[in-house]
Amino acid sequence: MNLPSRVRIVEVGPRDGLQNEKQIIPTATKVQLINQLADAGLQTIEAGSFVNPKWVAQMADSAEVFHQLTRKPGVTYAALAPNLQGFERALTAGADEVAIFAAASEAFSQKNINCTIRESLTRFETLMHAAQAQNIAVRGYISCVAGCPYSGDVDVNTVAQIARELLAMGCYEISLGDTIGVGNAGQIKAMIEQLAGTIPIEKLAVHMHNTYGQALVNIYAALECGVSIIDSSVAGLGGCPYAVGASGNVATEDVVYLLNGLGIEHGVDLNKLINAGNFICEQINKPNDSKVAQASLRKALA
Ligand code: HMG
Ligand code: MG
Repeated sequence: MNLPSRVRIVEVGPRDGLQNEKQIIPTATKVQLINQLADAGLQTIEAGSFVNPKWVAQMADSAEVFHQLTRKPGVTYAALAPNLQGFERALTAGADEVAIFAAASEAFSQKNINCTIRESLTRFETLMHAAQAQNIAVRGYISCVAGCPYSGDVDVNTVAQIARELLAMGCYEISLGDTIGVGNAGQIKAMIEQLAGTIPIEKLAVHMHNTYGQALVNIYAALECGVSIIDSSVAGLGGCPYAVGASGNVATEDVVYLLNGLGIEHGVDLNKLINAGNFICEQINKPNDSKVAQASLRKALA
C-alpha cells in the first residue's frame, strides 16, 4: 500500500460549506468559525469567495470576513476568484492565495460561471498573470470530474487535459471536484491513475461531496494512489448553488477520524474541530452532518 505519511487538509467549510445557505449568515459568525478552525489546527482555510454577489449572495461579505478574522501564523487564508475582478477584490481584502475553478463539463461551466471551458481558461490566464506579478499562489479546481448534473458522464481525458492546462499556466495544485458526489472508488482510482501518468501525484487534491455516501471511500481510494491533499468541510456543510440536489462536502471530522485510524499525520485537534462544527450548526440551525460529531455527541450524553 502506498498511503502518504502526512496529509494536508484544505478546509473549505467557510466557503463551499456556507455558500449555499439561503439565510444570510452574520459576518461575525463566519469570522468566529474561521478562527475556531484555525485554532483546531487547520492550516489551509478557504475563507470566502469573490464572485459576483448577484450570483452568490452569501459570499458578498467576504472582504469584511478577511478584514475581521484573526490571523494565526502559519495558516493560509484562501479565497475563490472566477476572474481578474475577483482576484483584485481578493488581493485587496488580504487573501493569502486564490483558487480558480474550471469545470470538466461544458454545461456546468455555463451554469456556474457563464462561459465555455475554453473561455474560462482564457480568463484564468489573465488572472494568473496578475497573480504571478504579485507573487500570489493560485490553486486550480476542476468541477464535475465524476459526473455532471446537466450532461451526465464526463470524459477523464477532458479532466486530464484541463488539469495539465491549469498547471501549465501556473497553478501549484489541482483539486479534483466530485461536485455532485456521484463518483465511486473504482472510478476515482482509475481517474487518478490516469492523471498520475502525466501529473506528479503531489500536485493532485481530492474534493469529494457526499451525496451518495461515497466520499470517505473515494478519499481512501485516492490515498491508496498516493494523494496527500484532501478538501473537506466542517460538519459536512455545503453544496454548490449550481448543482441542485448535491449534498455537502465530506465532513472534516470524518476525514480526521479516518486519518487518525490510518496513522496519517494531519495536525488537527479532533475535539476542537467537533466544537467548531457544533458551533456553526447551532448558528445556522442545521443538524451536524458529520457521523463522527454525531457519535461523539451520543457518547457524551450516554
Ligand atoms: P457574468 O455575469 O458572465 O460576468 O458572470 P460579466 O463579466 O459579464 O459581468 C457581469 C456583472 O458581474 C458586472 O456587473 C461585473 O462587474 C460583475 P454589472 O456591470 O452588471 O453591475 N462581476 C463581478 N462582481 C464581483 N466580483 C466579481 C465579478 N465578476 C463580474 N468577481 C461570473 C461571470 C464568473 C462573475 C459569475 O458567473 C459568477 O460570479 N459565478 C460564480 C458562481 C459560484 O460562485 N459558484 C460556486 C462556486 S464553484 C463550486 O462550488 C465548486 C467547487 O467547490 C469545486 C467542486 O465542488 O467541484 C469549487
Ligand atoms: Mg465543492
